Order: sequence, then structure tokens, then C-alpha cells
Amino acid sequence: MMRVLVLSGPNLNLLGEREPEIYGTDTLDDHIARATRQAESHAMSLDHLQSNSEGDLVTAIQNARNTHDAIVINAAALTHYAWSIHDALATFDGPVVELHISDLKQREEWRQFSVIEPVADVCIAGYGGKGYEMAIDAVAELLEAGHN
Ligand code: DQA
Repeated sequence: MMRVLVLSGPNLNLLGEREPEIYGTDTLDDHIARATRQAESHAMSLDHLQSNSEGDLVTAIQNARNTHDAIVINAAALTHYAWSIHDALATFDGPVVELHISDLKQREEWRQFSVIEPVADVCIAGYGGKGYEMAIDAVAELLEAGHN
């Protein structure tokens, strides 16, 4: 069974109450529950880590080199400046899917640059909570296509 790791960056633990006009009213648990069901429908297992700390996410990516086949990452604000996350993802051989709830291209200029983009196979942004299921579908397709 293929294993996918979903990583969530700072403040995503507040989804549901944080700026609902931008991020919706579903909680992170709601998104992860749907993503887990979607992963199971593709015969994949899903693990999830949310952290407000850059270092925790870097360590999780390093550990995933030995334990997981693919990574889905919503690095939240770290997306826009955390080169240590870029470098860690560059060491990961499997598919990497960048995920955002909001459409970064329609928001402030500082959100339009992503350090994840150069090391991601796919970016899914602007589809709200549905993006979590779309990201899992993208992982399944990349793994089926033989990405390793
Ligand atoms: C986000 C977009 C980021 O710019 C922001 O800092 C977040 C969430 C999104 O999912 O739309 O925290 O990654």
C-alpha cells in the first residue's frame, strides 16, 4: 500500500474560525478526514502532521524519505519564504503536491511567490476544501504514472 504524508503549516490548525470568508468554515480535521477517505479509495494510506514550526516540517519531510511515497504540503505562510522547506522537499524522491485553499494569484502580491513551486510536481490552489481531495487524486495519478 502506498503511503502519502499530508503536511500543514502555521495557523492551519485554526481553520474553521480563521478568516472563514477566505478559508471557509471546515476545520483542518474535516479536510483531513475527506482526504483520508479519498486516499483509501485509491488504496493508499494517509498520515498527517500540522505544525506551526518550520523545523518540525523540515524534519517530517526528511523522515518521509524513508517512510512515505508522496507528500502533499500546504505550507501556509511558510510557502512564501521558507527555503529550508524547499531544500528538504528537493531531497524527497516521490511526488510532491503543493496545496492551497485560496487562490494565491488573486491575493496580495507577497503571496504570489512560492518557494515550494520549483520542487512540486503539481500545484492545486483556489479550490477551497475540495483541493484536499484533488491533491490526493493528483498523488494517485502521479504514482500510477510511475513517478518515484
Ligand atoms: C494558504 C495561503 C497562504 O498564503 C496563507 O499564509 C495560509 C493558507 C492557503 O491554503 O490558501 O496560511 O496556504
